[in-house]
Amino acid sequence: MCGIVGYIGHREAYPIIIEGLKRLEYRGYDSAGIALYDGTNLKVSKTKGKVADLEQRVADEISTNANLGIGHTRWATHGIPNDLNAHPHYSNSGNLVIIHNGIIENYDSLRKELISRGYTFKSETDTEVLINLIEDVKIKEDVKLGKAVQIALNQVVGAYSIAVFDKTKPGEIVIARLGSPLAVGIGENEFFIASDASPFIEYTKNAVYLEDEEMAIIRAGKDIKIRKIKDDSLVDPYVQELQMNLEQIEKGGYDHFMLKEIFEQPNAIKDTYRGRLLAKKGIIKMSGVDDNIEKFLNANRIVIVACGTSWHAGLVAEYIFEDLARIPVEVEYASEFRYRNPVITNKDVVIAISQSGETADTLAAIKLAKANGAFVFGVCNVVGSSIARETNAGAYTHAGPEIGVASTKAFTTQITVLSLIALKLAKAKGAISNSDYRYHLQELELIPEKVTKALTSDTHIKAVADTYKEARNCLYLGRGYNFPVALEGALKLKEISYIHAEGYPAAEMKHGPIALIDEQMPVIVIATKKGHYDKVVSNIQEIKSRKGKIIGIVTEGDTHVKELADHVIEVPETLEPLSPLLTTIPLQLLSYHIAVMLGKNVDQPRNLAKSVTVE
Ligand code: AGP
Ligand code: GLU
Repeated sequence: MCGIVGYIGHREAYPIIIEGLKRLEYRGYDSAGIALYDGTNLKVSKTKGKVADLEQRVADEISTNANLGIGHTRWATHGIPNDLNAHPHYSNSGNLVIIHNGIIENYDSLRKELISRGYTFKSETDTEVLINLIEDVKIKEDVKLGKAVQIALNQVVGAYSIAVFDKTKPGEIVIARLGSPLAVGIGENEFFIASDASPFIEYTKNAVYLEDEEMAIIRAGKDIKIRKIKDDSLVDPYVQELQMNLEQIEKGGYDHFMLKEIFEQPNAIKDTYRGRLLAKKGIIKMSGVDDNIEKFLNANRIVIVACGTSWHAGLVAEYIFEDLARIPVEVEYASEFRYRNPVITNKDVVIAISQSGETADTLAAIKLAKANGAFVFGVCNVVGSSIARETNAGAYTHAGPEIGVASTKAFTTQITVLSLIALKLAKAKGAISNSDYRYHLQELELIPEKVTKALTSDTHIKAVADTYKEARNCLYLGRGYNFPVALEGALKLKEISYIHAEGYPAAEMKHGPIALIDEQMPVIVIATKKGHYDKVVSNIQEIKSRKGKIIGIVTEGDTHVKELADHVIEVPETLEPLSPLLTTIPLQLLSYHIAVMLGKNVDQPRNLAKSVTVE
C-alpha cells in the first residue's frame, strides 16, 4: 500500500515524479518504477530497491523528456520484490500501463480467465492481472480507456488506488480509488496525482481527494471530472486548499507515525483478512495452510518462536490454538530457543512470527528448527524478507509499512492471521462445532468496526494518561487471553515512555507482586466481561484495599468495575479469543499519550531499532 505519483501538464514530468517518490519513501517500500510519455514513445523503467536505484536505472535506460508520467513505490503483496514485479505494468498489447496500490482479492480467478483467453503474464502480481483485464474489456467492448477501467473495476474485489495510461490516447490519465488513498493536485493547466499531497504541495495547495469507489479522467487544460465507478454518475469535486506542511502530510495529519498506525488498525486488520475470511460462506482461504494442512493436523505440537511484541502475539496464539483447535502449543523467545538445545523433531510444526522478517534471533531459531526436521511456517509483514524466504510456507500480515518503532498494527494483524489459522485447523479437526466456527468468523469480520469504536475513547484515554504520566512504575494485569495483552501493554509503556512497567497474570499478584501495591502504583487491569471476570474483580478489590490506583479496561456498559476502579476505559464486547484485538487498543493509546506528555521521541525511542538484525 505504498506510493503513487503522476503528472500531466506543461512541466517536465520526470523531476516532479522522482522527487515525489522520494517524498513518499517514509511509507516504506521495496521497489520503484516510472512510466514516461514524450508525445511519441511510452518508456518504462523499474527496479527492486530504492528510488535512487531507479534514478540510476532511468539514467542508463530511457530519456526523460516528457510532460506526462506515472511513478510508483511498491510494498509487495503478491510476488516477491524484484524487477519484474515492480510497477508500472504493461498490458499484453504494450499500449496500456498501470501503477497500483492495494490488493486485488479475486486476481487469481481473473488471471485464469484471462489466460484462457490467450493473455500471458510476466510478473506474479495482482496488478498485472488488472491492467490486462482493463485491456480485455477495452477490446471486447470497443470502449475508451476511462469506460474500460470503470467496467473492469466493477469486476474487481479488493482495494486499490490506480493510475492508468493509454499510449494510443496520450492526453489523459485515468485514476480510481477504493480503500487506498489518492489525491489530485490541481494547478494551472496541469494535474498532479499522489498517494498523499507531499509530492505536489510545493506546486499547488488546491487538492481533491478521491473518495472510495470514485474515478476520474484527468486531462491537462480540462476540468477534472469525477465519477462513481458503480453507476458512472458525476460527482461534484470538492477542491480544498491544503493547510498542512510536509511533515504533517507524511503523518497523515497525525503528530506521530505511531498514532497514525494505531488508527490504521481497522483497515490493517481488514486488509489482512481480505480475500482470506469469507464469513458468509464459512470459508477461510489460506494457501500456505491449505497446502500443508496435514503437517499441522498430524503435528505433535506447534512451537512458536518470536521476539518482543511478536512473542506476545504468539502467546495469544497459544491460547487460541489450544482452546479452539486443541493443538498443543509452546511459545519460545527465539533468543532462548536458539541456544538452549531444544528437543525438536520432524513431528513439530514451528510458527515464526516477525513484523520485519529480519530479526536475527528469530531467523536463527528458524534455521535450527529446520535443521532438526521441523516444518516452519512464517507470519511476516514484509514480503520477500529473510524470514519469509527462509520458512517452508507462510501467511503475510497486510498491515502495510510500520514506521513507528513500537509495534501496534503489527500486533493486531499478527493475531488476525493466527486466529484465521487456528479457526481453520479447529474446523479441519472437528474440534469446533460448525455454528461456533461460523460465529467466530462473523465476529472476526466485525472486529475492524469494533476497533474503530474502541479508538473513540482516545480523548478520555489522554485524560487518564495525564493523571498517571509521572508514575515511576506501573503494573498491567490480565487473565487468560488477556494475560499476553497485559505483557504487551507493559512493553508499549516501557519502550516509549521509559517508565518501568510489568505485566502479570492477575492471579499471580498474591504470589509476591502485591507487595508492590501502594498509592503510588497505577495498576491497569484488563477486566472484560469474558474470561474469569469475577476472579479479576476480586483481584481489583485486593489492589483497592491496598490503596493501589486502578485503571480498568472493561466491556462497554460495565458498571461493577466502574464502582471499584479510579478510571475505566471501555471496549466493545466480542468473543473471548478475539478480545485481545480490542483490549490492546486503549493500552497502545495510553502509552502513546504518556510518552508524548513526557516529551519522549515516540517514533524513535532511545536505544531501540525497528528491526533487531543483530544478536
Ligand atoms: C515492539 O514494539 C518492538 N518494536 C520489538 O519488541 C519488536 O516486536 C521485536 O523486536 C520483534 O520484531 P519483529 O516482529 O520485526 O521480529
Ligand atoms: N498488490 C500490488 C503488488 O503486490 C501492489 C502493492 C502495493 O500496494 O504497493 O504489486
